[in-house]
Amino acid sequence: MSHAVQGPGDSQRPPEAPRARENFTGRGAFLIAAIGSAVGLGNIWRFPYVAYSNGGGAFILPYLIALLTAGIPLLFLDYSIGHKFRGSPPMAMRRLNRRTEAIGWWQTLICFVIVVYYAVIIAWAIRYAGFSVTKAWGKDPESFLVKDFLQVASTTDVEFHFVPGVLWPLVLLWVFTLVVMALGVQKGVTWASKIFMPLLTVMFIALVVIALTLPGATKGLNALFTPDWGALTNHQVWMAAYGQIFFSLSVGFGIMVTYASYLKPKSDLTGSGLVVGFANSSFEILAGLGVFAALGFMAQASGKNVHDVAGAGIGLAFIAFPQIISQAGALGPLLGVLFFVSLVFAGITSMISLLEVVIAAFKDKTGLGRVSSTLIIGGLTAVVSVALFPTTTGLNLLDVTDHFINNVGIVGVALLTAVVVTWVLRDLPMLRDHLNAISSFQVDRVWRFLAGVLSPLVLLGLWITELITVGRHGYENMPKAFVGTFGWGMSALVIVLSVVLSFIPWPQRSALHTEHLVADDGTPIAGDHKEGVRR
Ligand code: ALA
Repeated sequence: MSHAVQGPGDSQRPPEAPRARENFTGRGAFLIAAIGSAVGLGNIWRFPYVAYSNGGGAFILPYLIALLTAGIPLLFLDYSIGHKFRGSPPMAMRRLNRRTEAIGWWQTLICFVIVVYYAVIIAWAIRYAGFSVTKAWGKDPESFLVKDFLQVASTTDVEFHFVPGVLWPLVLLWVFTLVVMALGVQKGVTWASKIFMPLLTVMFIALVVIALTLPGATKGLNALFTPDWGALTNHQVWMAAYGQIFFSLSVGFGIMVTYASYLKPKSDLTGSGLVVGFANSSFEILAGLGVFAALGFMAQASGKNVHDVAGAGIGLAFIAFPQIISQAGALGPLLGVLFFVSLVFAGITSMISLLEVVIAAFKDKTGLGRVSSTLIIGGLTAVVSVALFPTTTGLNLLDVTDHFINNVGIVGVALLTAVVVTWVLRDLPMLRDHLNAISSFQVDRVWRFLAGVLSPLVLLGLWITELITVGRHGYENMPKAFVGTFGWGMSALVIVLSVVLSFIPWPQRSALHTEHLVADDGTPIAGDHKEGVRR
């Protein structure tokens, strides 16, 4: 592999001055945006149930091991690629090696798919914050959600009739988010994180404190934390712990590559990674406390076991929580508003980070400015989201898309990235040197083993188990054609499109040069592995 500074035929042409890359004003701005991305819907509704159904208190052990052995090492890998090669995933991966651009597009398209459905869940939460005040679901929150609010089609026939009650909050959410994105990294992304994250923290702590004082709260906490040590011998529990960490930390699908590309040249990457990792997990454990205290209260009030009242995912937030709110008397509306507005705030900062990957990739590849890129590709993303999800098929579509993009898409691309960087390009030592040159916490063999050997093995296990299970048994009794189109078909389309996009030439070839990437003191920061476009 040669490492020419410029491509063939470019040698006489001085590169045009590249457009200055946007940046975070400082480490604080980066940290709050990165924590805002990690803390999302996954922390509030996914973690409590995953922990509960995988060994309760005993789950904390595999969870912490997964955080330390895979979550944080892969976070460092994302940071090193994004920061060293200063680009959105396609640009950073193209600068890493001309043949790996498609991996960057795979990551970008995963963010595109997630953000189109992630937004609609936030739109539901916006409506439910209002419903909490009047307890609009009456005596049957499940039927209210499915029949009255979402108007889910009785079959999974693909019919896209709009549901106005979901459509308008979704449109408002997209308009708001596009305005934030058009304002850019400093005035938009940072500003939104600085407002929403402190508000989320205060509201969520208030929610947890109220939940812990409800009668029956200890019953819920006992259910969550009573350790089932036998679970530790079950490989599925370990897989669940690793799966939760990947999703929750936003590692492996381009978000942290993109955010790290906006960091100033001399930034403490590993120190920041540790802060983000532990902040995200602290929030997750706090969510576990709050949600299970509230479930314990409901179990006691209705004379049931916690097991019978705990729902998973959407069911937990939009069916179990409304039941809790109804049971909690005068305190109910307050609990409801705190819970659903927390979901909205946590969701918006994650949505912004997902959309930023898509906009940054488009902006890097086309050379267009922030506002035009937001209008064109951000607008297109919004149109797809609004056309598909606030409809009578929206819930089923969301369910299948979410499952496949997480378990086939994210796990697949994270595996491919780790294997290609470690074993094909053998670039981990170069990335380690980059991390160590600027960071407080030094990494070496242990990191290389965890990011390059252990994490790929776990990801491979997760991926194969998933492909076999869904391949053999289908997905949740859904019709084969539906799962084939929106699960397998969508996953395959994403991969094919990634390859196609990587063949489109870069209009501004100079964008691929790395010799202009210099630190504050003028030393090249992407040049220590032989600067220039690697080919
Ligand atoms: N990390 C984000 C979440 O937890 C995507 O929802």
